[in-house]
Amino acid sequence: MFETRPVTNEKNLYGKKHKEALKQLKKNVEEKTFTAILGPRRVGKTSIIRVFLNKYRYRYIYYDLSPFMSKPGISYTELTPAMMNIETNELSYHAQLSLGLVRLDVKPENGVQFQNALINLLRELNGKYDNLLVIIDEAQVMPRIRGVNMLGLLQLISNTMDNITVIMTGSMPGLLEKILSPSASQPMFARYVDRIHIPRWTREESMGYLKKGLHKAKVSCTRAEVEEAAEELSNVPGFLAYYGKQRTRGMNHSEALVEASNYAINIWEQDLEAFLNIYSTRAYVTTLWALAQSKFGLTRKEIAGEVLHREKISDRSLSRILRNLVSSGMVEHSKERRKYIIAENPLAKAVQNIARKYNIY
Ligand SMILES: Nc1ncnc2c1ncn2[C@@H]1O[C@H](COP(=O)(O)OP(=O)(O)OP(=O)(O)O)[C@@H](O)[C@H]1O
Ligand SMILES: [Mg+2]
Repeated sequence: MFETRPVTNEKNLYGKKHKEALKQLKKNVEEKTFTAILGPRRVGKTSIIRVFLNKYRYRYIYYDLSPFMSKPGISYTELTPAMMNIETNELSYHAQLSLGLVRLDVKPENGVQFQNALINLLRELNGKYDNLLVIIDEAQVMPRIRGVNMLGLLQLISNTMDNITVIMTGSMPGLLEKILSPSASQPMFARYVDRIHIPRWTREESMGYLKKGLHKAKVSCTRAEVEEAAEELSNVPGFLAYYGKQRTRGMNHSEALVEASNYAINIWEQDLEAFLNIYSTRAYVTTLWALAQSKFGLTRKEIAGEVLHREKISDRSLSRILRNLVSSGMVEHSKERRKYIIAENPLAKAVQNIARKYNIY
């Protein structure tokens, strides 16, 4: 039950919202409604899609953009599907080209050619299948692909290719929202996309998941242990799965919790580095650091007090930073309490480590 790779079997998909999301996705695909699955990192977005593809045998092409999350610019030549289950041998040369089936020596010389090949591919598939799924994992990366206008492409699919349905995931919900939200240049786009939000598990779900999995594996545990694991790992499915796995491998509670926390902190450090690669200003680290100092969060004014003089930035810049941090899912903003707070415990610890690296204290 404790997998550290995306879940593919429905019986291992735990959590009320996750199960509801699977149902909603099925409904949307039947209606051919474009869908964005949004939620924080490690919450199980990819799992929902993988379970869906496994359960219902749709034809699909799956683009995984997650390897590019840390890259400010991505070449169109890197855009090849990670998985697909279409019959490729009958496709035209151009279609095969954009699937990366034809090798490098005949790669198109520029993005326009590539984009045209991609459009031809999609047109062909649109003619061939009743309901083909184009899946784009971590779709907030799309605007950074050079040479291909991905958003234009989605709009084109939506307007002219009735047999293709697009499913996206975004672990930086606000950033994907920004792409999907209507603006003067893309007035229609947002209306096509249904959003499904996947939250972290509730405390009860986290505890239930651990109890069930440990019981199944015949590992005894106490209520206090699963409670502590849920709390410490902030109810994040991916981190709890890791904790569970360590326990089934023979570690006791404390060992497994240290191991899982370190795993989580490490992953968050990589994510932070990736984020800072794209938003390259130290003020982001300082803002996160200020928030990580406080267990119950800080008001806008308190953050300004910590950050503005340290980084010599304007109040307006701070607003932008906070907006992007909330969009990324790393910081949460409680409107009632008028406070900003770091979203997860392991993230707060990762922030401390990164801040040390940047000499912030
Ligand atoms: N609903 C669930 N039931 C059981 N395990 C889950 C569930 N959701 C996620 N997991 C576990 O959490 C881990 C992360 O899941 P997954 O890769 O699907 O999340 P994600 O949201 O796509 O993460 P990322 O932001 O890294 O792309 C996996 O090891 C998976 O086994
Ligand atoms: Mg994923």
